[in-house]
Amino acid sequence: MTGQPIIELRGVGKWFGGQRVLNRLDLAVRVGEMVTLIGPSGSGKTTVLRCMNFLDAYDEGEVLIKGRLLGYRGQGRQPRDRDRAAHIAEVRRPLAMVFQQFNLWPHLSVLENVAAPLILGKRLPRHEARRRAAAALAHVGMADRATAWPSRLSGGQQQRVAIARALALEPELLLLDEPTSALDPERVEEVLDVINALARQGMTMVMATHEMCFAAAVSTRVIFMAEGSIVESGAPENLFRRPASARLKTFLAPWFKRPLQDDGPAARGNDRAAGE
Ligand SMILES: Nc1ncnc2c1ncn2[C@@H]1O[C@H](COP(=O)(O)OP(=O)(O)OP(=O)(O)O)[C@@H](O)[C@H]1O
Ligand SMILES: [Mg+2]
Repeated sequence: MTGQPIIELRGVGKWFGGQRVLNRLDLAVRVGEMVTLIGPSGSGKTTVLRCMNFLDAYDEGEVLIKGRLLGYRGQGRQPRDRDRAAHIAEVRRPLAMVFQQFNLWPHLSVLENVAAPLILGKRLPRHEARRRAAAALAHVGMADRATAWPSRLSGGQQQRVAIARALALEPELLLLDEPTSALDPERVEEVLDVINALARQGMTMVMATHEMCFAAAVSTRVIFMAEGSIVESGAPENLFRRPASARLKTFLAPWFKRPLQDDGPAARGNDRAAGE
């Protein structure tokens, strides 16, 4: 793929206390890619996503969003000064994030939940924010629940509203952190369907997930992390069918006891361009 990456990580490292949790990661994501992060619990998937939009400050290296340094002033200078909050917000404007726990405001209706960031963050007039929010809700099949309270929705419906809230910001890159792992099993599919549709529409995404079949089906690129490092990355048909490292083989064993069939998950979703 060509063109400037939407986001680029160069040698990104992160510590929590004395523990190194990200180990000099290099990663570039370009328009139209669907990158999934897989790996054992504690391998650093959430931390990468949070460093990508500076919800967590990274300690070394650089995160560039459309070529602009995120979080610090003085590119290449050490020690670095943390950037002003307003400038950080401006640099990360092309990004939106969907969390595991939805994070909807319980005292706002579904429509108001989606419209609020447009009014408060983007300073859109109320009527324009509500119009955009309604369109985003329609996008995820939730238009008919616009006046409901979040507490009256199932987990799957709440997560679809959370996705609508992110989409209403018209992001160029959507970050999703295990968007289905807090859901009852019967609610997982409806959320994966929404994400799959977004992927097919060409939305650029980075998603941490434990849903291996889904990752195999929709990703243009899969990144396997362990202990804060990228161990392997590549097109899903390679990574899932021919894992190179013993670590990835061991990690995948419970999901892929039998080899994937040609008409299996990895063969679906191949109407998207292959990553890398
Ligand atoms: N706020 C924090 N303070 C201290 N340590 C943290 C914090 N957040 C994460 N960690 C540690 O950083 C490491 C990476 O955690 P992270 O949440 O990124 O993993 P993960 O791959 O997302 O795991 P999971 O699959 O369970 O969501 C872990 O060792 C974790 O204990
Ligand atoms: Mg996580």
